[in-house]
Amino acid sequence: MSETTSFSATVSGTIDNGILVVTLDNAPVNATSGDVRAGLEKALSHAESSASVDAVVITGAGKTFIGGADIKEFGKPALDPTLPSVIEKIENLEKPVVAAINGAALGGGLEVALACHYRISSPTAQVGLPEVKLGIVPGAGGTQRLPRLIGIPAALDLIASGRIAKPDEALKLGIIDQIAQNDLVPAAVAVARNLVGKSLRRTGALDVAPADAAELEKISGKILAKARGQKAPAEAVRLVTSATRPLAEGLADERSTFLTLRDSREAAALRHVFFAERESSKVDGLEGVEPRPVKTIGICGLGLMGSGIAVAALGAGYAVIGLDQTAEAAEKGRERIIGLLERNLSSGRLDQAGFEAQKARLSVTASDADLAPCDLVIEAVFDDLNVKIDLFQRLDRVIRPEAILATNTSYLNPDEIAAATAHPERVIGMHFFSPAHVMRLLEVVRCARTAPDVLATGLAVAKKLRKLPVVTGVTEGFIGNRIFSAYRREAEFLLEDGALPHEIDAALENYGFPMGLFAVYDMAGLEIAWARRKRQAATRDPAERYVEIADTLCEAGRLGQKAGRGWYAYPDGKRTVDPEVTAIIEAARAKKGITPRSFSTEEIQQRMLQAMAAEGEALLKEGIAARPSDIDLVMINGYGFPAHKGGPMFARS
Ligand code: 3HC
Repeated sequence: MSETTSFSATVSGTIDNGILVVTLDNAPVNATSGDVRAGLEKALSHAESSASVDAVVITGAGKTFIGGADIKEFGKPALDPTLPSVIEKIENLEKPVVAAINGAALGGGLEVALACHYRISSPTAQVGLPEVKLGIVPGAGGTQRLPRLIGIPAALDLIASGRIAKPDEALKLGIIDQIAQNDLVPAAVAVARNLVGKSLRRTGALDVAPADAAELEKISGKILAKARGQKAPAEAVRLVTSATRPLAEGLADERSTFLTLRDSREAAALRHVFFAERESSKVDGLEGVEPRPVKTIGICGLGLMGSGIAVAALGAGYAVIGLDQTAEAAEKGRERIIGLLERNLSSGRLDQAGFEAQKARLSVTASDADLAPCDLVIEAVFDDLNVKIDLFQRLDRVIRPEAILATNTSYLNPDEIAAATAHPERVIGMHFFSPAHVMRLLEVVRCARTAPDVLATGLAVAKKLRKLPVVTGVTEGFIGNRIFSAYRREAEFLLEDGALPHEIDAALENYGFPMGLFAVYDMAGLEIAWARRKRQAATRDPAERYVEIADTLCEAGRLGQKAGRGWYAYPDGKRTVDPEVTAIIEAARAKKGITPRSFSTEEIQQRMLQAMAAEGEALLKEGIAARPSDIDLVMINGYGFPAHKGGPMFARS
């Protein structure tokens, strides 16, 4: 092995048996920042002109190959050399270039690899073109080279969905040529050595196999329906399906589409979400705080929520002890959990061995004492203060003093629950969203007396459960339900002011919500919110504007889809505007002497958005939410706010 040559601050090379091994070292993910591009270009020029170099291997330092273009550079003036020009140089080099994919090769990272003449990966690598998730399309040849390598239908599926493929799939599809069983770089060097003097397979020169038009139509239709008006997936479909044209033409179109999308509001919103997700786990006061070890999780209450939490915990490798009030209820809970695991088995998300292992880690009981081995107990029992206090006081007597108690309450005050226990510093809130084994959001509630390492443990467990944790302070409904209340209130004001439920829902769906608010109410059922309103009636400020329409609907038995009618009628199961509801709304307006006016779609969207953002501002001022982007994550991941709009705090700016 020769001495190391630096081509730039982030790109270096060594010669091994006549092969120049170029290593990109640009922490944290070896993104192709300006310095990387410049270094890579220099390395290629060196390889081209040096008689002592027969071939090149490109690899990444650390656990990533190349994480893609440097997203932080987007929005700044582009510095030469551009990524497409470096990639063109790789493809056209007269000497073999081999990609040694040691970890994630994503976006521009995979585009670099696609231009190499051979791709060998480690067994743990992952490849993908996730650009659409950032509101853009691949901008350095991905939409043109991938179809040349694996055909249009498979390329379309990967590029328009942005999904990541593991090495086995990548090999099967033909994205990579080989998976190295032993050390990757020596294997890549051997491959490169073997390619010297042979004719090189340049991806850009391959013919694109023509695809069946009906099949393409079917795949594209599915992608566009899912895109809900986003531009990037539609552009990806257009570029990939037209990859049969000459390479230069396709590349030029791809680049200009990439640049236009990169500067769009949609892309800015999705970049905001990308960085927000990484920012949310940085919590004040937790620097250097070690989480407590957690191996066994107790779950109290094995209803829908508790069972979902159990499935998430089993999937993350924890042992789970489920507690319910009676042996029969506990057994029913066990059956519900096994049922969910079986669904994972039949859908292929879990293999037989995984299923058996998870089943073996589950036990259920009706006896508090059996929770003694737990490191963390999460309660998901009936949302009543006395029920929860009683449970936590019983748990105080059976679990170790350092074990953590978490409440999954949605609306109660966890400080009051904590205050009634022997060790309030070990109490946190873990507010899951239903179904808990599916929904990614988890509000982690920092109570007044929660110890820092207890909060750190809540966050660490959430991550292991593959959730997106957002820390919230204590307030009624925490971040999400407080904003949701403001959203709901504004929708009801709009009803009184002149808009009808289907107009408000249409405006929300047009904005990108998967379903309008009133349709969601009907699906979930109106009775729980009705019961809450009745409880709150005694303490409600009479000077506050209160809309009675929902109460009138409930009194008339219109409790939602289950009752066959709610905000809408459902003849043949189809959501339909009901004149009876319109009459109830008109009567409510008349009772208050409101003269209705009409609202444009845009006006409805703006009023809803402003209501959410104003409540978000209040949460920031009260110190409940740490940063606006945390609020955005909650609304996107828990309440259907469209990610490509960036969340209510981003969207109002
Ligand atoms: N550019 C700039 N910064 C990036 C980045 C990128 N492409 N990818 C990740 N980072 C940063 C993150 O913001 C984070 O920074 P922080 O530590 O300051 O918070 C840090 O790198 C580590 O990121 P993760 O926490 O996500 O690290 P993981 O190890 O969990 O995951 C990864 C690594 C799988 C590479 C993941 O970061 C990822 O998916 N990155 C984005 C991949 C992507 O979308 N690439 C396409 C970019 S666009 C493109 O390439 C256009 C091209 O076609 C021209």
